[in-house]
Amino acid sequence: MSTNEEIIGRAEIDDLEAILAVSAADVDEAVRAVKDNADAIFTWDYEKGRRPALAKLYEKSKISMWNGETDLPWDTVVDQEQVARDNQALNGGLGDLDLSGTPFHNWKEKEWLQLGMEFQNWSLSQFMHGEQGALICTAKIVETVPWIDAKYYAATQVMDEARHVEVFAKYLDTKLNGHYPLNAHLGLLLDDIIEDSRWDMTYLGMQIMVEGLALAAFGLMHMTTPEPLLKQLLRYVMSDEARHVAFGVLSLKEYYEELTYDEIRERQEFAFEAAVRMRDRLLQQEVLARMGIDTKSAIKFVMEDEGRQLFQTMLFSKIVPNCKKLGLLDAGDGWLRTKFQELGVIQFEDLTDTSDEYEAFALGKAELGASATA
Ligand SMILES: [Fe+2]
Ligand SMILES: [Fe+2]
Repeated sequence: MSTNEEIIGRAEIDDLEAILAVSAADVDEAVRAVKDNADAIFTWDYEKGRRPALAKLYEKSKISMWNGETDLPWDTVVDQEQVARDNQALNGGLGDLDLSGTPFHNWKEKEWLQLGMEFQNWSLSQFMHGEQGALICTAKIVETVPWIDAKYYAATQVMDEARHVEVFAKYLDTKLNGHYPLNAHLGLLLDDIIEDSRWDMTYLGMQIMVEGLALAAFGLMHMTTPEPLLKQLLRYVMSDEARHVAFGVLSLKEYYEELTYDEIRERQEFAFEAAVRMRDRLLQQEVLARMGIDTKSAIKFVMEDEGRQLFQTMLFSKIVPNCKKLGLLDAGDGWLRTKFQELGVIQFEDLTDTSDEYEAFALGKAELGASATA
């Protein structure tokens, strides 16, 4: 049985020193090389539809392709400062929060607006990098998964992820005023996913954990952003992401039935590791550093903010029911359930899992109209 130390590199989940000690090492490099350690698998079983749920996803995917260049209103003028101001108003401003003794004590409106804009730059940058991670992982799944229906579907997902990277990059370049490098915690997670030789671990790390969190994050931002272009962009991306998460759930559900408990336990530990890495990244240490304030005391303050805690836990609203559907929560002694309790996210376990709800995210005919008639 592995300890926290072995799985996440620290005994206490909330050890702030240890979290902040992880920093991005290669941010100045033009490329990042990661060993992918896997065999490319040919299959000679070409019978299409042996896995009907995957075959259905594949057919849906083929008719759901949108075009980021022509379907999104790129002529929308985005006033980033106004967006930050609107977001702030939506969150109810600072209210009567007591900031004395915190690094924010002498901040005026100018600094808060700057923070809001940096938050946008950071979030969209991490979305973009995460999308590239998905692009690479799905290409790997095409190579490594032994089932033809899964290879077909994963190939369509590669195309989806290319479009996602493309639209986030374009939004950052043309509508926002800065970029951030890959967050170090997200980087650790992407490396772990890519380095693992087992095809199902790529699915668990990417389709279930990273994309599950992305689906929830895009959903929250879609619901709250006042900016119409971003709203529409997220709507389009989410319609694909829901399918991607469903692909993970449907594939792993079948595969996990063949595994021994020791093998399942390794998957539980990997899911926990991924959850912690993603939670660590949400602390946005790079934003606070760029604002020129003491990162540690600022994060301490931010961690205690109840609104923020609520927001962070909501990001796990897709991951937990999907892990439950896969049997990961309660396998063996219910180890992952206990870990998700420690992370404060177990309350989502009975929400609808994504394999049951992905069709609700699909784009309507009118939304797909522009590319269909182009
Ligand atoms: Fe994506
Ligand atoms: Fe995706």
